[in-house]
Amino acid sequence: MKHFFSIAIASLIFLIPAGAFAFQASDPLGLVLTWQQDPTSTMTIDWHTGTDDRIAEVAYRVADTDEWHSFTGSTMPYPHSDRLIHRVELTGLSADTGYEFRTGPYSRIRKFRTAPADASRPVRFAAGGDVRHRVEWMERMNRHVAGFSPDFIVWGGDLAYADGRSDRMERWYDFMDAMMHTLVTPDGFTIPVIAGLGNHEVIASWYNNDDSELREGFPPYQQDDESRERIAPNYYKLFAFPGQPGYGVLDFGEYLSIILLDTDHTNPVDGQQTEWLVSLSTNTRAPLISTSPADSSSRCGKKLLRLRRSSKDGGVLK
Ligand SMILES: [Fe+2]
Repeated sequence: MKHFFSIAIASLIFLIPAGAFAFQASDPLGLVLTWQQDPTSTMTIDWHTGTDDRIAEVAYRVADTDEWHSFTGSTMPYPHSDRLIHRVELTGLSADTGYEFRTGPYSRIRKFRTAPADASRPVRFAAGGDVRHRVEWMERMNRHVAGFSPDFIVWGGDLAYADGRSDRMERWYDFMDAMMHTLVTPDGFTIPVIAGLGNHEVIASWYNNDDSELREGFPPYQQDDESRERIAPNYYKLFAFPGQPGYGVLDFGEYLSIILLDTDHTNPVDGQQTEWLVSLSTNTRAPLISTSPADSSSRCGKKLLRLRRSSKDGGVLK
């Protein structure tokens, strides 16, 4: 009889689908916080799972309160992978406020903080790039930066060094795992990231439109969504901002703007992108301040990142 029960229990274990255990996990496979709209009142939350999990819902509440709310988003394929990307944008949030949240069925409660409504307190951020290289170096740098409790991080590209290749997906996997586990402040706030496009996000690591010998059989890029996503498949799917067409502006209330540009990785500098930038600049009410050189001559100098600040508040950015 004892033998019979052992066989019965073993059979039951084999009959339980693997997905049943996934719903008890504390963490998904990756987590990215960023913004698509004003960081004073929104937060975009991405997380990654296997294909057995299609719950694109975030539960959230103001930190240290009792009332949970929820937002439902969308699920999309993770390029070159059997994983899924879930994306939920929370809107209508209060400025400079800590929120607790849970993603899908995962039990761990994390925290984020919205940006202040105005520049009445210092806004601290870290800027960098060439992020992964060796993942242990990335993790060490992330932990060091997180120790300063930045409100957000700006990465100017060259993220996982996967070069748009399907045989380098492990680089994205450990990159996303490192983001989830190391971009957390000492007070437990997950740090949002604004990520630009670098040459190591595109096929052959340098998809210059005029550089045919490195294109590995691909035609010159076109200025359309399909072409851009074919050249940099993971970048366009894994980061909600800037999304298509690969450049964009993020306005923090009326006191700070961050502009991400694409220096000839999936868009030419001249033409539509420059015209867009010029139109943006003429609409700006406050001075532009450059925090990194606009260096389109260097393969690693990718991003023109500029800040806008209100002259009446003056000098509050760190
Ligand atoms: Fe680089």
